[in-house]
Amino acid sequence: MDKGKTYLVTGGAGFIGSNYIKYIIDKYDNIKVVNLDKLTYAGNQENLQSVADKDNYTFIKGDICDQKLIGELFEKYSPDYVINFAAESHVDRSIGNPDDFIKTDIYGVYSLLENCRNFGIEKFVQISTDEVYGSIDKGSFSEDDTFNPSSPYAASKTGGDRLAYSYFVTYDLPVVITRASNNYGPNQYPEKLIPLFITNAIDNKKLPLYGDGKNVRDWLFVEDHCKGVEFVLQNGKNGEAYNIAGNCELQNIEITKKILELTGKSEELIEYVKDRAGHDRRYSLDDSKIADLGWQPEYDFEEGMRETVEWYKNHEYWWRKIKSGEYLEYYKEHYGEDM
Ligand code: NAD
Ligand code: TYD
Repeated sequence: MDKGKTYLVTGGAGFIGSNYIKYIIDKYDNIKVVNLDKLTYAGNQENLQSVADKDNYTFIKGDICDQKLIGELFEKYSPDYVINFAAESHVDRSIGNPDDFIKTDIYGVYSLLENCRNFGIEKFVQISTDEVYGSIDKGSFSEDDTFNPSSPYAASKTGGDRLAYSYFVTYDLPVVITRASNNYGPNQYPEKLIPLFITNAIDNKKLPLYGDGKNVRDWLFVEDHCKGVEFVLQNGKNGEAYNIAGNCELQNIEITKKILELTGKSEELIEYVKDRAGHDRRYSLDDSKIADLGWQPEYDFEEGMRETVEWYKNHEYWWRKIKSGEYLEYYKEHYGEDM
């Protein structure tokens, strides 16, 4: 077990980053965590209430694109590890307005890497995604397969992924890259499929299923993802990428029916709507590389979904604020007043 290290976690106020911070603070006695987050619409300090007052946790509001600020943080905190979760992360938003995606998901990674190169670190973890590979009809993608990103989100994440790799090859920076499947669990912003549909179902609102509802995603419980990231940080080989799969491929309609079952609502809430532009049909990861190193996910989907639905039922104050504010404006703009 690693002790006494300083972790600079970027994007730690978002869904996965906040779960990761809570996980490592709970796991290790003697680490320090500095959380740098811009607090975009997706960043929420309430996600970190349980650690906010701890002596070994520091929050800094700031942008990963701000090289000067990152330099000051390196001077002050001398991080051993940098784990970059910060990103614009929603495909639909990237279709509407790719600008921030290019800035944060590419330039932001560059800005972090430059500082890591100048100051020196033990490990840089770039949180990439399965979406860099694009869609696959049959079989699963391995880490060495070709990139074929379809959305501005996936393309900008591919840029960040390859920039991180280039700093390993060119400057010998100790970089590892993780590419995970679709995550679900507590604290996910209710614009993504699972939290959007759970919260809509609770409110007896329609569940807008894109296209024929048969697109397939592989689902990974967020706690498993956090454990996988930490495993790769501790055990991954520099310059290598690791797929982190949930090994749970489901069609969107199957997820939707499960949500309706767990919330006790009728399938009449399902509404088929216009398909997403460039909608990837299926994501699938071959995770034998990380499995050979000794890691696999622990949650099964039933258990993860039950916990997730319970969390949203018990945390209405968290998501109602989000859905009644900025998010609602976005939702209406894209799907009309009546949805
Ligand atoms: P999220 O949108 O919930 O959180 C992103 C966080 O990054 C927010 O707190 C936001 O304020 C912060 N941020 C955005 N731009 C920033 C900037 N310029 N500087 C500093 N902070 C900034 O996203 P998430 O779902 O938690 O995803 C985290 C990471 O995991 C992303 O890199 C994403 O690409 C990757 N990923 C996500 C999934 C998934 O299913 N959610 C799957 C695989 C990989
Ligand atoms: P999403 O949660 O946005 O993740 P990603 O696009 O990164 O995989 O979407 C998951 C799947 O659910 C994807 O196939 C698109 C679909 N979807 C809907 O059918 N309706 C919705 O309202 C949303 C947000 C997604």
